[in-house]
Amino acid sequence: MMSKKLFIQTLGCAMNVRDSEHIIAELSQKDDYTLTEDMSEADLILINTCSVREKPVHKLFSEVGAFEKAKKPGAKIGVCGCTASHLGSEIFKRAPYVDFVLGARNVSKISTAVKTPKFISTDINYDESDYAFGEFRGSPFKSYINISIGCDKKCTYCIVPHTRGDEISIPLNLILLEAQKAADRGAKEIFLLGQNVNNYGKRFSSAHEKIDFSDLLERLSEIDGIERIRFTSPHPLHMDDKFLNVFANNPKICKSMHMPLQSGNTKVLREMKRGYTKEWFLDRALKLRELCPDVSISTDIIVAFPGETDAEFQDTMDVLEKVRFEQVFSFKYSPRPLTKAAEFTNQIPDDIASQRLTRLQSHHNEILDEIVAKQNGKIFDVYFEELRANGAVAGRSFNNFLVQVQGSEELLGKTLKVRITNPKRMVLYGELVE
Ligand code: 5AD
Ligand code: SF4
Repeated sequence: MMSKKLFIQTLGCAMNVRDSEHIIAELSQKDDYTLTEDMSEADLILINTCSVREKPVHKLFSEVGAFEKAKKPGAKIGVCGCTASHLGSEIFKRAPYVDFVLGARNVSKISTAVKTPKFISTDINYDESDYAFGEFRGSPFKSYINISIGCDKKCTYCIVPHTRGDEISIPLNLILLEAQKAADRGAKEIFLLGQNVNNYGKRFSSAHEKIDFSDLLERLSEIDGIERIRFTSPHPLHMDDKFLNVFANNPKICKSMHMPLQSGNTKVLREMKRGYTKEWFLDRALKLRELCPDVSISTDIIVAFPGETDAEFQDTMDVLEKVRFEQVFSFKYSPRPLTKAAEFTNQIPDDIASQRLTRLQSHHNEILDEIVAKQNGKIFDVYFEELRANGAVAGRSFNNFLVQVQGSEELLGKTLKVRITNPKRMVLYGELVE
């Protein structure tokens, strides 16, 4: 019999990318599906959704509407991921042609879901932390590895604890096994995933040796064949000295750190329940720059959180100026269902939010232009992973700059020295050093 075809669209974060890999693995091993990029020939169309802001939720309904029009007769449509968790059966009401709804953290039930009419499972406390998923990897060059699921923080703007449940760490032996598998298949990079990776070891679902994130990093770095270790997202609150020292001194840990600031103002941070102050954040970021001069620091910023005054927003601009982030992901605050901040009565009008976002982004672009200009002439070790248009190949420097050179697939999977000759904001263009 010919295998069935699966089309899958993934929105949201790296956690979702990994969940989609698990879905593909389960369906190909248990139900004989193979992937297709052509929706019209698919027997099963899946969308793995994100809820973090309102926009991706709207996108879900426009996308499934388009699926319904484009699909071949008899093909099924499934909605997975964070929005499946928080909207649940409402998805059937708004889009009756959807065949099943499978929340984040329920991925191991996918094979049952596809066979059960109107299947729905959105238990955010479902524990699949030691479920042995089948193997599927979207990239031969790097392996995503979940190290924890869920989130125990209760940031007042954030829906994730309501879609991914409580935080549970994955047992060390399973993580080591995944990393060894990565090394065995020749993937030189592992990318550790969790909502608060540097809170690793706080809680396991069964008895486990005491271990923290720094210890985990050291253990993983002992695996031969693994040359690069990345992770996301760490929380600024848990960036203790031990962690910063291991980060700076372990030669396999890539020198790029995501430090989600959210706001630079201590009062706003308190209302967000972030657990740190402006001073703590600055202290950690500047200490990191001191310990690790080559580090790139990226961040997430929310502007116009309820009640944010212009003076408070100015503190965010101040942190931007002092830390000089290499990359900033910035968002207008978006009220989310089930969150505390959505009930705050001092919501900020959209025009003010837009102005702040523009001010933030244009100031960051100025900073970025200076950072980028300084890369000219530098030589980076680039791990090539991606073919690009017009005979170009791209990869990442150890400190996470996207670097592109002219070349062909024989560069893929290799780590080579590149001299930057034409640095731009999004890509540093360069040439191989002979
Ligand atoms: N509104 C705007 N941005 C949000 N984020 C999370 N929740 C919200 C929200 N309600 C942002 C945060 C987080 C990133 C993944 O998305 O900056 O770090
Ligand atoms: Fe989106 Fe957050 Fe869910 Fe990731 S965890 S898919 S960012 S809502």
